[in-house]
Amino acid sequence: SNNEGSAKDKMTAICELLQEHIDYYDWVGFYMANHEARTLHLEAFAGEPTDHTVIPFGKGICGQVAESNENFVVPDVKAQDNYIACSITVKSEIVIPLFKDGKNIGQIDIDSNKVDPFTKADEDFLEFVNEKVAALL
Ligand code: SME
Repeated sequence: SNNEGSAKDKMTAICELLQEHIDYYDWVGFYMANHEARTLHLEAFAGEPTDHTVIPFGKGICGQVAESNENFVVPDVKAQDNYIACSITVKSEIVIPLFKDGKNIGQIDIDSNKVDPFTKADEDFLEFVNEKVAALL
């Protein structure tokens, strides 16, 4: 509700800020849901470009969160069989759904090159970030 830039630009700025300033956040992105097509689409990110710009619901950690509507913390990606590898350097991942008016419309996805870095504080913080992003949309 202002004219200072698109929501996508703001989401990219948030990704860059998080990836730059939190040492164990090595890749940060927002995927947004197309509920008709049942696909997630990479809207904004910071870190290495990924081939996985479209992810079907149910596939990978991201696709599972599109269906579960719940936070998904993966301390060690090697222990997951429904996982889509974006980089061989990634050891762990956190995905937090983004709700607008009670509907799961996307998610923030963070990859870390460390094993088991994410705590409840990350979940709480990223839920807060998502609430702020939802207010832009
Ligand atoms: N690892 C994710 C795919 C997205 S990349 O991490 C950027 C998954 O399993 O859904």
